[in-house]
Amino acid sequence: MYTESQQRHLIQRTRQLLQRMAVPEGRQEAARLAADLREIIHFHDWRYYVLSDPAISDFEYDQLFKLLKQTEQQHPDLVTPDSPTQRVAYGLTKEFPQVSHLVPMLSLDNSYDEADLIEFDRRVKELTGVQQVEYCVEPKFDGASIAVIYENDLLKRAATRGDGAVGEEITNNIKVLRSLPLSAKFSSYGIYTAELRGEVIISKEHFNQINQKRLEEGLPVFINPRNTASGALRMQDAREVAGRGLEAFMYHLAYATDKEGKSVLIHKIKTHSNALELLYKLGFKSPYPVKKICANIQEVARYCEEWQTKRDDFPYEIDGMVVKVNAFRLQEKAGATSHHPRWAMAYKFKARQAVTRVNNIFFSVGRTGAITPVAQVEPVFLAGVTISNVSLFNEEILREKDIRIGDHVLIERAGDVIPYIVHALPEKRTGSEKIVHFPKHCPSCGSPVVKLPDETVVRCVNASCPAQVTGRIIHFVSASAMDIRGLGPSLVLKFYDAGLLKSIPDIYRLDYEKILQMPGFREKSVNNLKRAIEESKNRPLNRLIYGLGIRYVGEATAKTLMQAVEHLLEFKDWTVEQFEQLEDIGPKVAASLADFFHNPDNIRMLHELERLGVNLKSEKSTAHLSGKLAGKTFLFTGTLEHFSRSEAESLVEANGGKVAGSVNAKLNYLVVGAEPGSKLEKAKKLGTVHIISEQQFLDLLK
Ligand code: IVH
Repeated sequence: MYTESQQRHLIQRTRQLLQRMAVPEGRQEAARLAADLREIIHFHDWRYYVLSDPAISDFEYDQLFKLLKQTEQQHPDLVTPDSPTQRVAYGLTKEFPQVSHLVPMLSLDNSYDEADLIEFDRRVKELTGVQQVEYCVEPKFDGASIAVIYENDLLKRAATRGDGAVGEEITNNIKVLRSLPLSAKFSSYGIYTAELRGEVIISKEHFNQINQKRLEEGLPVFINPRNTASGALRMQDAREVAGRGLEAFMYHLAYATDKEGKSVLIHKIKTHSNALELLYKLGFKSPYPVKKICANIQEVARYCEEWQTKRDDFPYEIDGMVVKVNAFRLQEKAGATSHHPRWAMAYKFKARQAVTRVNNIFFSVGRTGAITPVAQVEPVFLAGVTISNVSLFNEEILREKDIRIGDHVLIERAGDVIPYIVHALPEKRTGSEKIVHFPKHCPSCGSPVVKLPDETVVRCVNASCPAQVTGRIIHFVSASAMDIRGLGPSLVLKFYDAGLLKSIPDIYRLDYEKILQMPGFREKSVNNLKRAIEESKNRPLNRLIYGLGIRYVGEATAKTLMQAVEHLLEFKDWTVEQFEQLEDIGPKVAASLADFFHNPDNIRMLHELERLGVNLKSEKSTAHLSGKLAGKTFLFTGTLEHFSRSEAESLVEANGGKVAGSVNAKLNYLVVGAEPGSKLEKAKKLGTVHIISEQQFLDLLK
């Protein structure tokens, strides 16, 4: 933390530095400038990432960052390990080595009500021999726990929890989190080695944004912020970790020794709340501002209940509170079991639940033939959304939970995202409820359903099943695939029912005369549809590949595949092993690809599409190496004036460029239209992206 006057001084120095933006000639002066810039950027990181209250504009921040980068480039010996330029770790982490924690990372025991807390307090008093115990209470963050070691004021190592004794080293990935300082003045508290505990989390807002984007891209949504955070920590590419919006909250000083190796916890720092304050002052994000020191357990219970009601207003997901004996001396006296400390207790919030009634249970058939039971319930409002359909996932769950039509059921939102039925309330049954059996025949086409030995889902394997056929067509024309505007799901179903659209190639031989005779169609709308379909014939190959709906093949894999061939039909001669050689393609995906391309029906369909004029050629064969934008990566934000987003993207690809999925270190250009989104801020912060207007983009193509 910085005092008011320190902050004023730092802001003043920032202003001065922004006046003269050149690397000085002499080495000594360059060294002084680099040190100044590091200190100042560190301060602004703190204002932005810890306080969420920036003191300068993103543009000014970028200027400072660029100047530091230039200075270090001209004098590479001036780079220090805690320089902000060292946050983005390039290259991949192939594996995460196992490392031992300095102090085992234990779990917490759980309590659910005041009685549990009173019992906990009684045991603490018994163990410590003290009459009155002071507690420190703070939120229990629902993320992925980490242990970070600082030595000699520098971040040394970060690790996941693992089994509590041994975790995985994730230092490179942790370094991209700007809320975690690369250096901190532990020495000013007489600390040489410290191990901090904390939680890596994603704010609810950011989590929702990520899921929104995944939905748009046709990727499965993340279930909850915790899984998303822990998955992100173990990603191989640190640059991708940076894009996940992770933040580190440090809530515990588990180990702190001086130069001689003597612990300073009990005698110098004394209490947990002092430790939180220390972390806060050193620039960490910590629960210090929201913690409460409670004189007795009744106060603890009141604070926990207070938070139970206001948890929705907190920007981060919390699943309870953590109650800790405040004095380290008493913590030591209370000790620990092999599973949890006896001086701490989690107070778990009740899950958000609601009771409603099942009005119907139907079976939906997806485009892959998977049959999912879905309960249609009396709409209920639960944690921010109205729920009317709840998936019952698969046959086993339907059977085990014995959910019947007419049942009252308890609904919960796991991680506050996907609702599910916890159980039925059989005591409320009147006898008129109806048991539903999983269908033996596909509800769409009537053919017998199949359950493959290694799958939990039941499938319809009839490739011409209407639900699957229409599902596949809907996917094929969707925005992320062939992007045929105007041919939405309801129209696909209408044309299917009219016998005009029975397969993907049928899209390209629609009988427009017949369509004109259908109610609700006019010359103009039919012409628009015709144009959209014509335009789709020239989409880049990766969109076609994605649109084919091959199992496990998402947009990223589709791009990888496109780059591997000059013509899509080359894949018909590829072996599973060949597919597996490609970047990021594992055995499961490779097998699915081989299945698809070895199937004569699919090959026939591809030939047909080509005959109908659909592009099957890869850009690799044309623009990839020679285009005006070859080797450059682009991303668009905001509304463009001259073309739609997907047209602009196709233009990039047609000129040999690549379209990025998000703002990251690989991105070269961000093209900014009207009312840009958060990508712009991110790109500015990165400082490595050229930010250009639509006109400048057009100029590049000239
Ligand atoms: S203290 C030895 N404080 O909850 C005590 N843990 O369910 C160490 N957690 O493994 C834990 N917020 O990952 C503590 N404010 C907080 C916490 C917290 C979340 C996590 C932590 C722990 C898990 C136990």
